[in-house]
Amino acid sequence: MSELGSEANPLQVAVVGSGPSGFYAAEALLKSGRTVNVDLVERLPAPFGLVRYGVAPDHPKLKEAILAYQIIARLPRFAFLGNVTVGRDVTVDELLAHYHAVVFACGAETDRHLGVPGEDLAGSHTATEFVAWYNGHPEYRDRHFDLSAEVVAIVGQGNVAADVSRILAKSVDELRGTDIAEHALDALAASRVREIHVIGRRGPAQAKFTNKELKELGELANCAAEVDPGALELNAESQAELEAKANFVSVKNVEILRDFASRGQSGKARRLIFHFLKGPVKIEGAARVQQVVLARNRLEGKPFWQSATATGDTETLACGLLFRSIGYSGVPVPGVPFDAKRGVIPSRDGRVVDAAENPLPGLYTAGWIKRGPTGIIGTNRADSVATVKSLLADSAALPQQARKGSEGLAALLAARGVRTVCYGDWEAIDAKEVARGQPKGKPREKFTRVDEMLRCL
Ligand SMILES: Cc1cc2nc3c(=O)[nH]c(=O)nc-3n(C[C@H](O)[C@H](O)[C@H](O)COP(=O)(O)OP(=O)(O)OC[C@H]3O[C@@H](n4cnc5c(N)ncnc54)[C@H](O)[C@@H]3O)c2cc1C
Ligand SMILES: NC(=O)c1ccc[n+]([C@@H]2O[C@H](COP(=O)([O-])OP(=O)(O)OC[C@H]3O[C@@H](n4cnc5c(N)ncnc54)[C@H](OP(=O)(O)O)[C@@H]3O)[C@@H](O)[C@H]2O)c1
Repeated sequence: MSELGSEANPLQVAVVGSGPSGFYAAEALLKSGRTVNVDLVERLPAPFGLVRYGVAPDHPKLKEAILAYQIIARLPRFAFLGNVTVGRDVTVDELLAHYHAVVFACGAETDRHLGVPGEDLAGSHTATEFVAWYNGHPEYRDRHFDLSAEVVAIVGQGNVAADVSRILAKSVDELRGTDIAEHALDALAASRVREIHVIGRRGPAQAKFTNKELKELGELANCAAEVDPGALELNAESQAELEAKANFVSVKNVEILRDFASRGQSGKARRLIFHFLKGPVKIEGAARVQQVVLARNRLEGKPFWQSATATGDTETLACGLLFRSIGYSGVPVPGVPFDAKRGVIPSRDGRVVDAAENPLPGLYTAGWIKRGPTGIIGTNRADSVATVKSLLADSAALPQQARKGSEGLAALLAARGVRTVCYGDWEAIDAKEVARGQPKGKPREKFTRVDEMLRCL
């Protein structure tokens, strides 16, 4: 038998998910010096995961990561199998029959829950849904957000909350030239939103925004960023956090917030108001959201370990729309262990482990589904490289017989009537989206339904 990883017996690896971590895993495998065939298996006909369906449309620079993925996709021995859902169109056991190893890089697709009464009232949404809707994700195309509400509450103070705030705060003219989905632009054109309240359960020194994203919220053409100066008073522990050398992001955030607090009346049509030390305890309304009851919190614990504790005082904020932006969570893939508490596939050094912490032969994981929903696009590179290192180190323990890889998988899917989308197909869809955008001055007009994408082919 030829050696695994040689021309005669290439290492066949299926990577599930074509977001950043999937592409970086593919790159690490293809540039490993071994002969490896990599098939990127993706649920949607379009690749790039959250870079296409998460990164905000008014941040086109951040989507330039796609240029690097296009180069990876042109490497020899790379294949894209889009429009294939692992766990539905093909099982994990079937993948293992065709590949020596499988890397799960399927992201964190759902949201965390607040766990308060009224969370599911009409008008209470997750940021996950709103983001996917304005970015044209086919599964969120038909969501409806009632933008006739004048007051919106956003729970959470991370960069996703910043994205959602900005999209609500910007005028349609500021968004028109972006790749925002047409249905979202039409809905935002009719928006009556005037006040956006961004609510943090902890203090200004604990907000998770990065500096650039927070600063940008104070530079919007039609929306003033506001903070009550009293809300920026820090307890001794928070002050100690800011004095720690490595904590420069929080130091700058507090500085930016102090600048917002010092500004006078702006006369701008919209207001973005930051609240700290307030946590929702109840969302109320007869048939839909009418108000959120907020517990006033205090911080307890040592510097960097401070958590929010309710003081017993509450206040009520009247709002017609509420977004929960408190983090993403993974969803289980049938046949693969899942840690429901953390929303991740349990792993050690990228190797998927069972309940007894034993590695499952041939199964690996990378990206948000491995480490949880934190980190920017670039963070996933080192993560995927580390997983591939483990996979290659295990190669002697993997099955040594030749596997059919994409040839076998494509035949199985064809027999099931699954229309797979190859990278060339995606390039055809991509070209049509770009052409559709041109007359409108947009970088692209995305297809927002899978059948529209497939009709291009
Ligand atoms: C709203 C938002 C905005 C962001 N903006 C930025 C930003 O501006 N800059 C920045 O640096 N970072 C940003 N990030 C972070 C960045 O997007 C993530 O770090 C990164 O996308 C995580 O990569 P991933 O590959 O692990 O997951 P994902 O990007 O989510 O990719 C997972 C892929 O797996 C596919 N998939 C899932 N299940 C299956 C299945 N069963 N079968 C087949 N395929 C499957 C999905 O369709 C998806 O394409 C943002 C994140 C969010 C949520
Ligand atoms: N432009 C960019 O670079 C960009 C854009 C978007 C996203 N991203 C990245 O993507 C990742 C995910 O972003 P994210 O905003 O979803 O997550 P995040 O940064 O983890 O922020 C989540 C926010 O929700 C709060 N929260 C969590 N549980 C809560 C609860 N039960 N009640 C009230 N508040 C709660 C957190 O507060 P606590 O701190 O108290 O837990 C925090 O303020 C981050 O790494 C982010 O930087 C980057």
